[in-house]
Amino acid sequence: MSMQSWTRFLAVLALLMLLASCGSGDGGEAEKKTQTPAERAVALDDGPRAVETLKFDGTLADQGEILFEDKSCSDCHTLGEADIAPDLAGVLDRRTQQWLKMQITNPEWMNQNDTITMGLIEEFDLEMVTVEVSDAEAEAILQYLLREDRDTKENSK
Ligand code: HEC
Repeated sequence: MSMQSWTRFLAVLALLMLLASCGSGDGGEAEKKTQTPAERAVALDDGPRAVETLKFDGTLADQGEILFEDKSCSDCHTLGEADIAPDLAGVLDRRTQQWLKMQITNPEWMNQNDTITMGLIEEFDLEMVTVEVSDAEAEAILQYLLREDRDTKENSK
């Protein structure tokens, strides 16, 4: 091989290696995009339970209590016993914060993709309906659940 073609060969090789390393650098992002909805659903429940990640905020809890009525959550859910829908007492010990947020703001997506939710649908023979709940409202509702949770644990001491 002539000197010139060697140089070109090495240049192409360097370029290929650069491209390859870029590709693997983006791997995390690309992987996220190629995750199936079911895989994304599983990832939602990965990590510490909500009770460990929520930082208590009394003002938000008050708002959450009102929202729990206003958004008709209380039509189906109670705290302390399972009615036509799962008992929400202790739910913060069962799930992660991000899973709960998704369940509250986008139950339709969970109904279709999340195996925990699908199991609950089978158990209760009912699907949670989508109510318009913003992320901030969902956080307030979780704070309300956290306060009730703390009160119960306090009283049973
Ligand atoms: C029409 C009745 C109904 C309404 C209204 C409703 N839910 Fe549900 N919810 C269900 C049912 C049934 C399930 C279990 C099956 C499913 O997820 O579809 C559920 C599941 C849940 C779960 C998961 C429970 C667990 O054990 O993991 C949470 C949290 C929840 N709902 C919170 C709420 C909140 C907050 C609201 C108000 C914004 C609300 N739900 C409104 C019926 C309802």
